[in-house]
Amino acid sequence: MCGIVGYVGDKQAYPIIIKGLKRLEYRGYDSAGVSIGNKDGILVLKEKGKVADLEAYAADRDSTGSIGIGHTRWATHGVPNQVNAHPHLSGDGKLSLIHNGIIENYDSIKQTLISKGHTFKSDTDTEVLVHLIEYFKEKEQVNLFEAVRLALNHVVGAYAIIVMEQGINNEFIAARKGSPLLIGIGKGEYFVASDASPIVEYTREVVYLGDGEIARINKDEELDIKTIANMSKTPFIEELELSLEAIEKGGFSSFMLKEIFEQPKSVIDTLRGRINPETKEITLGGISDYEQKIMNADRIIIVACGTSWHAGLIGEYLFEDLARISVEVEYASEFRYRNPIINENDVVLAISQSGETADSLAALELAKEKGATLLGICNVVGSSIPRLTHAGSYTHAGPEIGVASTKAFTTQIIVLTLMAIKMAHKKGTITMKKYHEIITELELIPEKIEKILKKNDQIEKIAAEFKDATNFLYLGRGYNFPVALEGALKLKEISYIHAEGYPAAEMKHGPIALIDDEMPIVIIATKKGNYDKVLSNIQEVKARGGRLIAIVTEGDKTVKELADYCIEVPDCLDELSPLLTNIPLQLLSYHIALMRGCNVDMPRNLAKSVTVE
Ligand code: F6R
Repeated sequence: MCGIVGYVGDKQAYPIIIKGLKRLEYRGYDSAGVSIGNKDGILVLKEKGKVADLEAYAADRDSTGSIGIGHTRWATHGVPNQVNAHPHLSGDGKLSLIHNGIIENYDSIKQTLISKGHTFKSDTDTEVLVHLIEYFKEKEQVNLFEAVRLALNHVVGAYAIIVMEQGINNEFIAARKGSPLLIGIGKGEYFVASDASPIVEYTREVVYLGDGEIARINKDEELDIKTIANMSKTPFIEELELSLEAIEKGGFSSFMLKEIFEQPKSVIDTLRGRINPETKEITLGGISDYEQKIMNADRIIIVACGTSWHAGLIGEYLFEDLARISVEVEYASEFRYRNPIINENDVVLAISQSGETADSLAALELAKEKGATLLGICNVVGSSIPRLTHAGSYTHAGPEIGVASTKAFTTQIIVLTLMAIKMAHKKGTITMKKYHEIITELELIPEKIEKILKKNDQIEKIAAEFKDATNFLYLGRGYNFPVALEGALKLKEISYIHAEGYPAAEMKHGPIALIDDEMPIVIIATKKGNYDKVLSNIQEVKARGGRLIAIVTEGDKTVKELADYCIEVPDCLDELSPLLTNIPLQLLSYHIALMRGCNVDMPRNLAKSVTVE
């Protein structure tokens, strides 16, 4: 939610910031803005819409200056318009600030500041923060670094901010709590951003600013970091592993399509080094010290949101079915507010692509207070969830930039499978034969996905038949019930067609009333699992005239006679079938969205990293 970039050095800041904002645009894209510092003061340029709109707006302006900050917004407080776009200025116009997060107590601060004579132009919480910093700077007669620290002591909420000051063109201040921020260290220059993508092109040396830390970033000096409580911190410099190719489209028309097609490689990367080629033993280094704890846990409580929650549901089936460990899967946003019973024998596992989702983080914080063991499955290395948890495993899917999650989902299932069979093996709840069967199948998944991707043209043709539908129903059972949920989510978020996912057998308890000869029904009917039962569900749909798209096992003849369209996937163990059945559903949504003229990478109202509650 919102992307922020800053540059201070000897180069021109504007092009670096614009390029950085384009890389961060997945985090929000309803308005964008920059502040550039030069000898004349601070130039502020803001525009409603995407970064390209800002560029067009700024095209004939002189944006010279070697210090600057930029922001791409996902609106929380105040509609997306030019006034509410960041950066925001202090009352005297001397301070300029960009912010990712939410200041929860902004209204009470605003009222206090109004009573002291401040006036506000925008509806945002961010403008209140820059006024608060200005207030402390004047009242206490301190420098900006100290004024930011004093102001942040009065703030409740989440933030990653950069603040610059008119006339000071070699230094700005950055701070974070709850929202991500990292600082790239160059030679006589610094880069600041919400993630590594705007930085990697210039330097690999970075410092991840810790929660509650403030940095004074002066191009000619070492980083100066302290906490909000005024304790000095030594910067911990880390090496970025991200490659530039990983964050570019590489010849694909969209990140989403690239990421769908990357999945065979992503799965290989997730499995890499984790299965011993001779003994087939699984090593998950990140959780090895906690294996005993997981095995003996009373329960595993999985907390996640959206697509990651769907992966969590598949995790529940895997852990219960194979390792006989009781699992609960919770929407992180509900879990934290319903006074859940958690104890020291529980393991709370957060699944998150970004590792920054505010609700998942808050659920973990709650579980931490209650003494549970915290685990994470995340994609973004160094993000907040891996920092908060005791242990965890990365998915290593590489950057996922398309807002709709694809390869992150697939690789989350891979990690969950590895964890579940590792535990099952240790507990002796599956036979060696079954263990080897699953490992063999796992290693075949990349080539099986490759085979499904070759059906892209066929899926595009099916999409053309259904692109004008207004409702879709997705049905699946067992391991493929969460896939139905995920298929429906993918369609609605990128094509804006209403879609619902249901357990196939639940259909008769309500949704069946929706079926008429206009209604497309996507049903997962692979051979293993509850095939016969799903066949009956298909008959029920046909009897009511529904138009059926079925995901079937290669060579299936029975469903072919009943369904209007069949998409074949290779035969596979039931436990691993979501890894395959989910792929055609991603492609179906992708093509339908494209045919409807939707922006698949940046669907309306959404953002990739949901760092607000
Ligand atoms: C859907 C999607 C979202 C995310 C959700 C959680 O395609 O991407 O539903 O899955 O916002 O995000 P993470 O996994 O980053 O915690």
